[in-house]
Amino acid sequence: MDKSKKYTRITTKTLSEMKENEEKIAMLTAYDYTLAGIVDGAGVDIILVGDSASNVMAGHETTLPITLDQMVYHASSVVRAVKRALVVVDLPFGTYQADSKEALRSAIRLMKESGAHAVKLEGGQQIKESIARILQAGIPVMGHLGLTPQSIYKFGTYTVRAQEESEADQLINDAKMLQELGCFGVVLEKIPASLASKVTQEVKIPVLGIGAGRHVDGQVLVLHDMLGMNQTFSPRFLRRYLNLNEQITNAVTSFTKDVKRLDFPNDKEQY
Ligand code: KIV
Repeated sequence: MDKSKKYTRITTKTLSEMKENEEKIAMLTAYDYTLAGIVDGAGVDIILVGDSASNVMAGHETTLPITLDQMVYHASSVVRAVKRALVVVDLPFGTYQADSKEALRSAIRLMKESGAHAVKLEGGQQIKESIARILQAGIPVMGHLGLTPQSIYKFGTYTVRAQEESEADQLINDAKMLQELGCFGVVLEKIPASLASKVTQEVKIPVLGIGAGRHVDGQVLVLHDMLGMNQTFSPRFLRRYLNLNEQITNAVTSFTKDVKRLDFPNDKEQY
């Protein structure tokens, strides 16, 4: 059932109200001004300037190479377009793991230079101090557990996480810890649906799932994947709402043909 309520501006408070009212939360990534404006206008609740920009925008194999400067650039472009959604930005790999002071400096730079509303960090217990220090400075933090792509070389594979009891227990403890620290929400990526459902019941903060089943408080997808721009990435959890790759290919093919046969521009398309 759609329990949508008309919010003119989404805040961290709005999100916890949505969980309380059992209204599902929609979250998508965006990395540039034009697409962020479209996504925001269409009514998504959270826009994530994900470090997946490293893959999607820059063509890297992993999220590790993207820098803080590059995240500031993407985030500030998105913020200029957004009127309603909460804009959350990923702290990139290497900007918060070494110590909590560096983490705070990175978060402050992102907030100050981009105008974003919150930051997201990957990990639990091991980055507790960094999260606590950022929160103490008044910066809203979203957690990210399960498959955390910045740790891909530790995992060795993008397969489903927390299938073993010990990892599942650790994930539940981490989610509770994030809540106790004061995080306003948590992303659970690629974990069994039953575990995501359990976490969602056990914490009061909103749980956003990607490949975590439907019994969570909301869903997040990478925009370019759900628009069908990327044909090679086809995990089970991905639903494609468009085949933009094909549509763009057709449009560009037609333009190229028209130029070559002198059909474009025609008399009406010139001065
Ligand atoms: O960077 C990203 O796009 C993300 C989502 C997959 C949640 O973290």
